[in-house]
Amino acid sequence: MNKVAFMTLGCKVNQDETESMMDLFKKSGYQVVDFDDKSDIYVINTCTVTQVGSKKSRQMIRRAHRLNPDALIVVTGCYSQTASEEVAKIPGVRLIVGNDQKHNIVKLSEEALNKRKDEKPKILVSQRHELTEFHSLPIATNRQRHRATLKIQEGCDNFCTYCIVPYARGPIRSKPLKDVVEDCKQLVKEGYREIVLTGIHLGSYGKDLSESLSLADVVNSLSELSDLKRLRLSSIEPTDFSVELLTAIKNSNNICNHFHVPLQNGCDKILDLMGRKYNTAYYEKVIETLRSLKKDVAITTDIMVGFPGETEEDFNKTLEFVQKIQFSGIHVFKYSPREGTPASSFPNQVPNSIKDKRSDILTKKALELKQQFNQLFLGKEVDVLFEKAVDDQIEGHTTNYIVVQAYGRKELLGSILPVELLEIRGESVFGRIKGEFNGR
Ligand code: 5AD
Ligand code: SF4
Repeated sequence: MNKVAFMTLGCKVNQDETESMMDLFKKSGYQVVDFDDKSDIYVINTCTVTQVGSKKSRQMIRRAHRLNPDALIVVTGCYSQTASEEVAKIPGVRLIVGNDQKHNIVKLSEEALNKRKDEKPKILVSQRHELTEFHSLPIATNRQRHRATLKIQEGCDNFCTYCIVPYARGPIRSKPLKDVVEDCKQLVKEGYREIVLTGIHLGSYGKDLSESLSLADVVNSLSELSDLKRLRLSSIEPTDFSVELLTAIKNSNNICNHFHVPLQNGCDKILDLMGRKYNTAYYEKVIETLRSLKKDVAITTDIMVGFPGETEEDFNKTLEFVQKIQFSGIHVFKYSPREGTPASSFPNQVPNSIKDKRSDILTKKALELKQQFNQLFLGKEVDVLFEKAVDDQIEGHTTNYIVVQAYGRKELLGSILPVELLEIRGESVFGRIKGEFNGR
């Protein structure tokens, strides 16, 4: 049996696409092995959102070549999409599969296996304007996370001044609504109680399909699936909360009271330089509305520090705004100049040492706010979907995305159970499952 090994870098969408590619290889009779094992094929699903993403991607390609110099090395994902020539020069690389060809990866790999090793690497990467279709990868069925993710949208047309993603993922394309509903029905039938809808710019869903179709229609349609207990939206831009979407959220009986709304910066001057199309006052209004629609709503976000021109005073505005909004989770990013994006040639680039300092301060603040949020639920009973075993405990999420750990049998994984929250433990909360023995 031929062996194949995978390494994924970057976002949820990439992780998901790796799982689907794994399934495609398994269905064709391959054995999936650990990345550190000797394999016949190595697939590296790369990321390039920051320089660190690209660097780690290169390291993984080199590691695969060291593990087995005779192996077929296949590189896919955003780094190879935007820098295919650079990737093709790394020793061992024989095939580069563009993001929109991931569904053909087995066939393409087998063609490459039949070629001589010293042939020039084959590059199958389309230009942005050629990326016109939404190619569905099969839903992976080997997941052990009890929480399925489903990509329903691809690409971004926003071109924020710092971001390389619109170049790597192409223009917006959506999965037809009837396919989304069919996939969700299938997942529910397989026993999934929570589905996370993902996309590169999820809030743009439907625009390419019809003028009147939007994410609101997805939320409305999925609200009718009675066995789907939780529907989560992975990330929604502040400007995408239309009246229709807000109404759908209000009326939905399964949408989670958790929204990830990328802020990027808490200073209006920087938001403007970033090419974001809102200011902090607008953002605050959106969050107020969300809080008025759903009880105990959790708001999480992405924030970038060290954008060109960000002064100490600007950064303090971000800190103040973060405190005001009371985020329950913040992904902190250090601005990384990406070649070809406008911001990489902006004046007043911020030194790395200052980016590090601001990132540390904001990360500390993020933990403090998360603990404050979690504290609100101590002594209360919440529903937790248990997803994985951690040492002798099991772990899962509440609808408002609190990570909860408790003593419980592995058979409880995949169930939604009532839990009394007892104690803050770092980023998560320890609790007792009702009716379960609370100890070893
Ligand atoms: N540098 C740092 N972070 C970035 N992101 C996007 N582009 C860059 C960049 N050039 C972050 C944004 C986005 C997240 C997915 O990645 O915060 O929300
Ligand atoms: Fe990048 Fe902005 Fe598009 Fe998000 S909305 S992928 S940050 S360009």
